[in-house]
Amino acid sequence: MASNHTFTRRNMLGSVGAAAVLSSVSATPLLAQEESHGPTTSTVADRDRRMKWWHEARFGMFIHFGLYSVLGRHEWAMEMEGIPVAEYEQLAKRFNPKPHAARAWAQLAKQAGMKYMVMTTKHHEGFCNFDTKLTNYCAAKQAAGRDLVAEYYEAARSAGMQVGFYYSLMDWHHPDGARCAKDDAARRRFVDYIHGQVKELCSNYGKLDVLWYDVAWPLSAEGWESVKMNKMVRQLQPDILINNRAKISEDFTTPEQRIQASAEPWESCMTMNDSWGYNRDDDDWKSAKTIARNLITCARGYGNYLLNIGPRPDGSIPEESVRILTDVGRWMDQHADLIHKAELCNVYRSQVANFTRTGNKLYVHVHFWPGDVVSVGGLSNKVLSAKHYPSGQPVQFHQEDFRVQFTGLPATAPDPLVSVIEVECDGEPKQDMLNIRENRPRREVGV
Ligand code: GLC
Repeated sequence: MASNHTFTRRNMLGSVGAAAVLSSVSATPLLAQEESHGPTTSTVADRDRRMKWWHEARFGMFIHFGLYSVLGRHEWAMEMEGIPVAEYEQLAKRFNPKPHAARAWAQLAKQAGMKYMVMTTKHHEGFCNFDTKLTNYCAAKQAAGRDLVAEYYEAARSAGMQVGFYYSLMDWHHPDGARCAKDDAARRRFVDYIHGQVKELCSNYGKLDVLWYDVAWPLSAEGWESVKMNKMVRQLQPDILINNRAKISEDFTTPEQRIQASAEPWESCMTMNDSWGYNRDDDDWKSAKTIARNLITCARGYGNYLLNIGPRPDGSIPEESVRILTDVGRWMDQHADLIHKAELCNVYRSQVANFTRTGNKLYVHVHFWPGDVVSVGGLSNKVLSAKHYPSGQPVQFHQEDFRVQFTGLPATAPDPLVSVIEVECDGEPKQDMLNIRENRPRREVGV
């Protein structure tokens, strides 16, 4: 078991190196994070059972929706701009999305090949999208006049999605949200409020698949009584998955805006531009190709990719997000299996391609199509056969000691996003780049 872990960890560090192409990643926090894997309120065996669907799902939709969507200047506007609470609250009178806007989110998620959704039920601003008995500062008792989380839940389930709730522990609106750190009576009231809302979320909608906490400022795990809270959650929802942001490790880690593989189950969450909440002028969109490459990188490291949309206040999805996810969806229509069935893959070095693995099959995902020859260095296995994916048309190949070349390929990429060659190997595909550097025969000086 221990040596198994070491091997996995080494693999992961390799994966991380390759991920740096797309995202800033460093290996140090990975080790720190792994080493600090601490208490959970469940056993590993139970976790394996509960996480099966999640590991297969791989791709989910994150939705940031709240009063900040009305402002359209990022979900942190309230704090970044120092907006007084009394002024900010007025937004609740204007936040009235069109009925069942979430159905379009769920349809888009499905079309993109996503399998689960996670929506903000309450972000740092403190406004609740759900109907709660614990405050009037919620969609049901303000302009919207209805429970937006219920609409989301219904939409996601009808589209066959697994359902997750994001819930921010930090609260900029609640009177005890900051003083709870210094005043124990305030802490008691605030923690009761938070636990009470988490209980409502776990009781009022039906089966819940993911609870996604965020920002645990200003308390410690003890202060939040996180163990007690999560035990309650598991009692109400025995199959639920809980993330690590209530300051206890629980089921999965949550690297944010970067891809960081670890030995524990992990999910990278990422924006499509630079904002989680709707930001009307943020035009820094990632291309569909970048999104597809990121998804492949996550699948290769046996992790998940939770990709965000920030709907406008009426609930409509910005056109750019629709366009990007539609393009990714067209690719997923033909390649979804490679993502959902991907196992941890030790092959990752190439300047033109990325890789996934299922059993002894290596999938070469070429994102920069070089023309009629694709070469892969350092493969330790014998290649038995190669074909285009998904057409199944045979690909010629030529293997030497340090490289395999796929030849006779079309001059232009078969797929505008990422073109795949399926390679059957004589064992689990492995790559050894150092072998090339150290052992490739060299020539005499001056020749
Ligand atoms: C950060 C931000 C928050 C966002 C979250 C998503 O913690 O504070 O705005 O919801 O990341 O992971």
